[in-house]
Amino acid sequence: MKSLRHFQLFIIFSLASIAISFSLPFQVTDQLQYENSQLTSSEFSTSLETLQKRIGYEFKNINLLRRAMTHASYSGENNKALSDLGLDVIKTSIALNCLKKDIDISVRDLNRQITKVTEVNTCAIEGTRLGLQNIIRVPVKGNSSAPPVVCGGFRGLFGAIAVDTGKADDAGNVFWNVHRGISSTFAF
Ligand SMILES: *[C@@H]1O[C@H](CO)[C@@H](O)[C@H](O)[C@H]1NC(C)=O
Repeated sequence: MKSLRHFQLFIIFSLASIAISFSLPFQVTDQLQYENSQLTSSEFSTSLETLQKRIGYEFKNINLLRRAMTHASYSGENNKALSDLGLDVIKTSIALNCLKKDIDISVRDLNRQITKVTEVNTCAIEGTRLGLQNIIRVPVKGNSSAPPVVCGGFRGLFGAIAVDTGKADDAGNVFWNVHRGISSTFAF
């Protein structure tokens, strides 16, 4: 009887711990969202204006760009899914341009070109050249210069354009212009 009671207590305690561990990260994130953004909201808006000029694309729905420049550690509304779409946009754009240049390119060479451009470090370099490390919203203890963060923002940018126009092609064209414009050090 006594051990049953202990067992019940154990279950209650375990469930409570699980509930707390699930709810804590969300509370912390919410708090950080308001207390620790490195740019004020008007500085953030100004940065988004500058970024649009830099990439030569003006958003119809600026909230998409806002979201693209928000890391998952900052808020629930973030660039994770846009970044996924952006990666596909980038891959397609590279593949298309490689094949336009050389229709006989081998699958191996094609994949090598795609990997070269899409690997996190390359993508972070391109994002850094756009100044994304100064724009992307992360919690105060986060590092907006870290390659995965900058890269997520860079990819998210093109995912956001695709959603904004409803066409992955449009996003691919903006990517290609940005890539060509700032990629002179990458032999491509
Ligand atoms: C942030 O990340 C950059 C790039 O990886 C690194 O050079 C820098 O030291 C990091 N800063 C902190 C505070 O961790």
